[in-house]
Amino acid sequence: MLRLQDRVAVITGAGSGIGLATARRFAEEGARVVCVDLDETTGAAAAAEVGGLFVKADVTSEDDVARMFQTAFDSYGGVDIAFNNAGISPPEDDSILETGLDAWRRVQEVNLTSVYLCCKHAIPYMRRQGKGSIINTASFVAVMGSATSQISYTASKGGVLAMSRELGVQFAREGIRVNALCPGPVNTPLLQELFAKDPERAQRRLVHIPIGRFAEATEIAAAVAFLASDDASFITGSEFLVDGGISGA
Ligand code: NAI
Repeated sequence: MLRLQDRVAVITGAGSGIGLATARRFAEEGARVVCVDLDETTGAAAAAEVGGLFVKADVTSEDDVARMFQTAFDSYGGVDIAFNNAGISPPEDDSILETGLDAWRRVQEVNLTSVYLCCKHAIPYMRRQGKGSIINTASFVAVMGSATSQISYTASKGGVLAMSRELGVQFAREGIRVNALCPGPVNTPLLQELFAKDPERAQRRLVHIPIGRFAEATEIAAAVAFLASDDASFITGSEFLVDGGISGA
């Protein structure tokens, strides 16, 4: 028996990186996957590859978020797993002294408000079923901060972590588990884009990772599949670090 057999999973940011690797992993484990992305080309390709559905949505729009969970329910009859993962990297100079209010607000909107909207619209379906697993993508920087000046990004991920803990505690008795996934640096387009702007930053980061390399997206997807499955039945409200030891170094 596959661990996620016939579970209905909604994944945001499924067109690339961690979301794409997780869509593949969930499908391998038997889930019916709804791939959500703003990018129609990559999102549709991901859905086609995993035999799932594609929903083009902007996770900062409440109407879009409501529609993507409604589509999962109408097409597959429920919502068992929500992997709220779409996010953007920090603006170019994201130090407290340089980041403008518009850039700050944009990062909060895409990285934090989106998670609020996704939880708000996933929970009613899970409540009706009396079960569900929500995994919100935070980051290791939510736990330890970052010496590389990314104030808007770190603050947004800290919000995701606190919100996940709060909801994990609030809904535990209703069978809904909510956890914050905290990846270390992962070799995805988001990280590559960041390091392309500042190549030295990659080297500085690397020396602080005890395992001595960046994660592959498949290694993060394996942790997400675990959190989504009944193998994690006693895990809720946690900060689930998958970071090569960086937060402990
Ligand atoms: P990525 O850039 O490879 O993929 C992000 C996906 O989200 C893209 O397909 C993009 O089109 C989609 N997206 C962006 N804005 C959207 C919106 N408004 N509505 C719908 N979709 C949208 O990024 P990656 O690396 O896979 O990151 C996924 C998550 O993991 C993000 O929340 C990121 O902050 C987080 N993270 C990434 C780390 C890394 O080192 N790559 C480390 C820790 C956390």
